[in-house]
Amino acid sequence: MNIVLFGAPGAGKGTQSANLVRELKMVQISTGDLFRKAISEGTSLGKNAQSYMDKGMLVPDSVVIDMVDEELRKLSGKADLIFDGFPRTTAQAVSLENMLTQHSLKIEKAIFLEVDTQVLLGRLTGRRVCKSCGEVYHVLTKAPKQEGVCDKCGGELWQRPDDKEDVIATRLKAYEDNTSPLKAYFLQKNMLVTVDGGGSSEEVFNRLKEHLT
Ligand code: AP5
Repeated sequence: MNIVLFGAPGAGKGTQSANLVRELKMVQISTGDLFRKAISEGTSLGKNAQSYMDKGMLVPDSVVIDMVDEELRKLSGKADLIFDGFPRTTAQAVSLENMLTQHSLKIEKAIFLEVDTQVLLGRLTGRRVCKSCGEVYHVLTKAPKQEGVCDKCGGELWQRPDDKEDVIATRLKAYEDNTSPLKAYFLQKNMLVTVDGGGSSEEVFNRLKEHLT
């Protein structure tokens, strides 16, 4: 089953995608991760995206759509795709449908992770990420054994530049203005599933799995 996983910044899309990849062997396509990879590699795509991401703004649709198109070509033949953080605008949603049709694929469910704003703020400000392997931690809910050091690879943990409070405010506004309307879009297509994204990661994952098996 191919799914879209969407929700506000900090809703747990990356965390739950990792659970789905590990337990259900699904394949994650995260536009945020693809951009961060391009930034770390210093490509022109990365430099372009960074100028928007550092301010908390959405990267222009044409840039994101071209990147996903390329990714889909690379993944040709793979099944059980998770689109994490894409689409984020109605134009992206329409393009995704067209791109998938070209690959004889379709989205079966668009899963919206619903989380209270205060909880989102706590998750975002407390997030720490490994600079080497990308493993995601949280200072309170998923602390590493040794502060500042990745349990998995020993790499240095850091705070994403867009997890600073002033940038978070812009990201939440971009979400409200552009991504929240996708709920109505997917509802009208009869694809929308809303999952309570509150509680522990395991609780959310158990709720999520009920819709995937
Ligand atoms: P992206 O990386 O996709 O950021 P986002 O959507 O803002 O989402 P986050 O990664 O912040 O949160 P998440 O929902 O994955 O939460 P996570 O699981 O990490 O995009 C970054 C930027 O790239 C955008 O701002 C934009 O500029 C650009 N971009 C990307 N895609 C784009 C697109 N399609 N169009 C245009 N621009 C695009 O969890 C957060 C924290 O909470 C972690 O510390 C985690 O450990 C913790 N946590 C998670 N779940 C729980 C739980 N249940 N209980 C306790 N703690 C939890």
